[in-house]
Amino acid sequence: MFYSEEIVEEVRTKNDIVDIVSERVRLQKRGGRYWGLCPFHNEKSPSFSVNGDLQVYHCFGCGAGGNVYTFVMNYENYSFPEAVKMLAERAGVTLPEAGESEEGRRKESRRAKLLAVNREAAKFFYYQLRTPQGETGYRYLKKRELTDETMQKFGLGFAGKNGARLIGYLRGKGFEDEVIQEAGLAGYSEKHGMVSQFWNRVMYPIQDIHNRVIGFGGRVMGDGEPKYLNSPETPVFDKRRNLYGLNYARRARSSNIILCEGYMDVIAMHQAGFTQAVASLGTAFTAEQAALLRRYADNVLLAYDSDGAGVKAALRGIGILREAGLTGKVINMQPYKDPDEFMKALGKEAFQERIDQAENSFFFEIRILEGQFHMEDPEEKTKFHREIARKLCGFSEEVERDNYLQAVADKYFIGVENLRKLVRSYAASTGLARQPERPRPAGRRKAEPEDKAKTAQRMLLTWIVNNPGLYGRIRKYISEQDFTEGVSRRVAERLFQELEQGTFNPAGIISMFGEEEEQREAAALFSAKLPGLETEAEKEKAFRDILLSVKKNSYEYYVARMGTDVTALSRAIEGKKALEELAKAHISLD
Ligand code: CTP
Ligand code: MN
Repeated sequence: MFYSEEIVEEVRTKNDIVDIVSERVRLQKRGGRYWGLCPFHNEKSPSFSVNGDLQVYHCFGCGAGGNVYTFVMNYENYSFPEAVKMLAERAGVTLPEAGESEEGRRKESRRAKLLAVNREAAKFFYYQLRTPQGETGYRYLKKRELTDETMQKFGLGFAGKNGARLIGYLRGKGFEDEVIQEAGLAGYSEKHGMVSQFWNRVMYPIQDIHNRVIGFGGRVMGDGEPKYLNSPETPVFDKRRNLYGLNYARRARSSNIILCEGYMDVIAMHQAGFTQAVASLGTAFTAEQAALLRRYADNVLLAYDSDGAGVKAALRGIGILREAGLTGKVINMQPYKDPDEFMKALGKEAFQERIDQAENSFFFEIRILEGQFHMEDPEEKTKFHREIARKLCGFSEEVERDNYLQAVADKYFIGVENLRKLVRSYAASTGLARQPERPRPAGRRKAEPEDKAKTAQRMLLTWIVNNPGLYGRIRKYISEQDFTEGVSRRVAERLFQELEQGTFNPAGIISMFGEEEEQREAAALFSAKLPGLETEAEKEKAFRDILLSVKKNSYEYYVARMGTDVTALSRAIEGKKALEELAKAHISLD
């Protein structure tokens, strides 16, 4: 670790996880915990829980979890030291100089170097655009009607024909060739040595939500191929999880987000005052990006190209938005190709009108579908109606389905009752149109004995952290040796030690783990669902059962290892004794 354990703990305790999360996720208090829609996977009903007493969070849907650091790292896309810095600043804690150490530091400095080299390159391109070598680029952008102010806001630049300049400049700033290559700014060949990647292109620096340059898109001057060249993925450039323009759009405070296809579309929109516009990064729109958008708006307006490829991309996008629980609408750009051209031709008032008239994504899908059938042919027309019925079955909620059914029947002159019949028969034949099952988190199988043991261990730990006073009454029966899984063993060890010393601190235990996977597992150990029981007697019985189950499992575990492990025999004997005592003992919960 990078900072001392004390400082990491100090910063953590000064940042209440409930505050930090609720600044980013809408939370509601229910049953001693806070609940909200998980920001790490797409869902429509809340399974994301934050426990203010324990200072941990856990999602019952996707398994995400940890303490305030884990949350900030995942949500803000920060490394651990970056998260410490951010939270320290927020709480007014002055950090000491980070100590020298090991691999974490190397990894961190690699990220930092990539960000630094990108920043320098962006500066270089920016200045070059404004020198005689950049004249082609500057004229191009002017011809596309960008103002100097817009070019400045987006940090636009130019990569000239002499690529050696960039490399010389970056080397002069102290960057090693290796870093320049890893950032995707240059390639290396035996014959030519370091060769600049971007050449004769207008450069669009791509920034993350913290305004850091994470990559570039470069548009060729003239008709060269490819038209757009983008930086490769690097440790700081994840194309699935970032969106062009989001660093500005997130502050737009608009009720919607406009999703475009191209960098130039975004820029033209911002220049016209639509600062809520974003675009994906030269790749198709992803579910991760939808989850990102959900943080800022509930409605997403698609402003994709009006050509065939654009329509196809829009249809795909609609599906992804729907999955994410977002409302999608489609902006009609006709007769223009894209928002950029539209804006130039008709201006912002006309575009605002198109926003106001944006088409509900369901009707958009139906309209596109309509184009695929010859309506004069009764056969084809029936097929079209059947397709509509099939699509209607996608609405699992009856009221919603019926509202759409009536609207679409109206619009396409179909008898409402006839359409209802079609829907019913389609639903009956396929078993659709019932409540869709909640998708099971990946990798979950039927409970096996091992899982049962794990569950019991998890429930016991959750029960103890929520009632630390209990520990005194069960310590003679239980020890960390009863926890047979890696993470739960280490958690129990530390937890019991802290309980002995009276320094009980579950969220701090999570910081002990270096790997994110382990942190989420540790948080899960504190967040099991406990049976909701009424009477004290029921609770006592449930607790006893859990305790017995943990002991029994550990007894069997050691019995199975007696042949190979010398300590296992004595553990098994102890376990048997504890089980016998437990059978007679009464454990009171209060
Ligand atoms: N794109 C890409 N590689 C290509 C073509 C396109 O990565 N060879 C991506 C870019 O992110 C681009 C977006 O797809 O911004 C949209 O492509 P296109 O419609 O061709 O771009 P326009 O914005 O119309 O480009 P321009 O106006 O500069 O001609
Ligand atoms: Mn265009």
